[in-house]
Amino acid sequence: MSEFMLETQNLGISFGGLKAAQDVNLKIKPKELYGLIGPNGAGKTTVFNMLTGVYLPTTGRFFLDGEDLTGKSTVEISRHGISRTFQNIRLFTNLSVIDNVLVGMTNRLPCNMFESMFRLPRHFRTEKELRAAARELLNVFGLDEERRSLASNLPYGKQRKLEIARALATQPKLLLLDEPAAGMNPHETAELTETIRFVRDHFDMTVLLIEHDMSLVSGLCDRVTVLNFGTTLAQGETSEVLHNPEVVRAYLGD
Ligand SMILES: Nc1ncnc2c1ncn2[C@@H]1O[C@H](COP(=O)(O)OP(=O)(O)OP(=O)(O)O)[C@@H](O)[C@H]1O
Ligand SMILES: [Mg+2]
Repeated sequence: MSEFMLETQNLGISFGGLKAAQDVNLKIKPKELYGLIGPNGAGKTTVFNMLTGVYLPTTGRFFLDGEDLTGKSTVEISRHGISRTFQNIRLFTNLSVIDNVLVGMTNRLPCNMFESMFRLPRHFRTEKELRAAARELLNVFGLDEERRSLASNLPYGKQRKLEIARALATQPKLLLLDEPAAGMNPHETAELTETIRFVRDHFDMTVLLIEHDMSLVSGLCDRVTVLNFGTTLAQGETSEVLHNPEVVRAYLGD
């Protein structure tokens, strides 16, 4: 294993004349809970889009566990072990809870399309194993009892959790969470904090999360990077960075 699970070197992207993100240098250690914060429009989601192959970086490179993934497609990057959730929940709302997780797991199926279509015995055996694994995952998030419900019928907080469960179904090395607590009440946020910590411990997961809720960030993240207008305003230990006067000013919109 490399010293860093994720390393970005001067990663940046421009849209026309707009430098949405530039010179982003992250060094995230295995099993770290790392925060990416900053005011609206700072470039946070843009960084996730580069790390998942949605956007091709204009400058720089990024490495997962020492392997250069710059320029790879979303599918390749997912196979190499980066998984994400979205700022606006994206679930298959007309599928059941468990099917949402199973969809995430399909790239683990060791059989081909032909076998799946004709439901050969090997596929049955595998599907049973997959279902068991999906239920285990749902259990972690307290969703197993609702596994047959439609995803759209879950309350908001649980939909957020299901999205994380689905992201974990690909067995990633690095989990990217884009504002997981957005729209949650304080009770749900506190619960989510525990869930993320559990995921780190239980799955040996490295987590990079974007969040506006500073109580969640300071309660969860060892280190943070603050973006402002696409550039790095500060990075380091969470408690120090959050007291940095420049960071406070950026948030107050001075
Ligand atoms: N595909 C695109 N084309 C043009 N501009 C874009 C594109 N994607 C992002 N931007 C711009 O890049 C900047 C950063 O956007 P981004 O969504 O990364 O911000 P953010 O930090 O995630 O903000 P928020 O906290 O509101 O989610 C914004 O000015 C946005 O308009
Ligand atoms: Mg965003």
